[in-house]
Amino acid sequence: MYKEIKGKIANKSAKIGVIGLGYVGLPLAVLFAEQKFEVTGIDTSQKRVKSIKNGKSYIMDIPTKTIAELTANKFLDATVDYSVVKQLDVIIICVPTPLSKTKEPDISFIMSAIKNIIKNRKRGQLYVLESTTYPGTTEEMLLPKFEEDGFKKDVDFFLAFSPERVDPRNKTYTTSNIPKVVGGVTRKSTMLTRELYSKIVEEVIPVTSSKVAEMAKLLENTFRSVNIGLVNELALMCEALHIDVWEVIDAAKTKPFGFMPFYPGPGIGGHCINIDPLYLSWKASLHGFNSRFIEIADNINSSMPRYVVNRVISALNKKRKPVKGCKILILGVTYKKDINDTRESPSFEILRLFREEEAEVSYHDPYIPTVRVDGHTFKSLCITDDILKKQDCVILATDHSSLDYKQLKNDAKLIFDTRNAFKQRGIVSKKIIRL
Ligand SMILES: NC(=O)c1ccc[n+]([C@@H]2O[C@H](COP(=O)([O-])OP(=O)(O)OC[C@H]3O[C@@H](n4cnc5c(N)ncnc54)[C@H](O)[C@@H]3O)[C@@H](O)[C@H]2O)c1
Repeated sequence: MYKEIKGKIANKSAKIGVIGLGYVGLPLAVLFAEQKFEVTGIDTSQKRVKSIKNGKSYIMDIPTKTIAELTANKFLDATVDYSVVKQLDVIIICVPTPLSKTKEPDISFIMSAIKNIIKNRKRGQLYVLESTTYPGTTEEMLLPKFEEDGFKKDVDFFLAFSPERVDPRNKTYTTSNIPKVVGGVTRKSTMLTRELYSKIVEEVIPVTSSKVAEMAKLLENTFRSVNIGLVNELALMCEALHIDVWEVIDAAKTKPFGFMPFYPGPGIGGHCINIDPLYLSWKASLHGFNSRFIEIADNINSSMPRYVVNRVISALNKKRKPVKGCKILILGVTYKKDINDTRESPSFEILRLFREEEAEVSYHDPYIPTVRVDGHTFKSLCITDDILKKQDCVILATDHSSLDYKQLKNDAKLIFDTRNAFKQRGIVSKKIIRL
């Protein structure tokens, strides 16, 4: 079995399935298809499957032209039907791993995908989990499932974990040139997975177990969360000490070694940085371990939207304006600039808090026409001079490149810049206050 599947990967006759065609799964499916592997995406979303079948992309980093060409040439197909698993040699799982309401790992999407794979599997398949999850998931949760009905690892199947490190909209580092860590539940699983990814990425880094690979991903994202938490706290400290935190970071980053700049902001969004560390702290807590850094960073980062609101309230207060009834415009509801992903965006919490304060809050985002917050639907406002002049405060929450920063400076009465975006563009004014 090992030699057979290795041979199929080597000569590209291996049929590849990607489960979950989102920000991670679709770029991955495209990369394999571009290397002339026959790839089938499986997704529970009829809408996404239909879009791929019609040759259309719904992810900004993947042009529609690419999907159209790959589907026309039969290198890429999509389905909602798991029975296709029977025909596949390699199955890569890229489904969501959110948190439950109590902030605990919710691996139900992974387990549901596994259940459907097992119902339709054949002997000799390689399974790779890419969804970010706590260390031990592959060995403790997936392996026993795949071993059901007398199936044996290294004989009837191979299983590994390989973390995804994609950074949406990053033009320098994309899936193909970001080194890929792979860790199997056996040495043969690691070797096969290395073989597989070496077809699409420049460098593959094998590690000795799936646990190490899972933990490596969580170290990377915990590192980011903790450092962002640190710099957010420093921003609050600098405000109290009347020091410009942005200038401090610019000065510190001139050190050519031992320092890496992180920047404060209105809070962390996206499907990774604010979620993944809590997967780790949950797992650690099962072993009686208290992850203090993770907890503190999470506390600081999730308090940032309230801090932004309080700073704006205080700035309005100085103008003798109670926040109740004030017109507040939030610019940007995506979690970072120039993308169309709003998952976990701190702008939602800012919108919600201003609504709670009974301000007349609205938003503008060139990528997001409507959002729903607390059962209320907001429509993105079209920015005009007139609309800007009517606002009591404009909050720059996401520094999209397409915003007209000069127009904003000219027309808004008061701007709260959470990203230092105006100063970076050389636009300075007394009416612009910064985080
Ligand atoms: N987005 C990122 O930048 C990023 C980066 C690194 C790692 N990750 C990790 O990758 C995983 C996927 O994230 P994403 O951003 O691609 O999520 P996503 O929400 O964009 O995509 C997930 C897809 O899985 C589908 N899906 C859900 N359950 C399914 C099932 N049982 N069977 C088939 N399809 C199913 C959904 O319909 C959706 O299309 C997560 O674990 C995430 O933490 C994400």
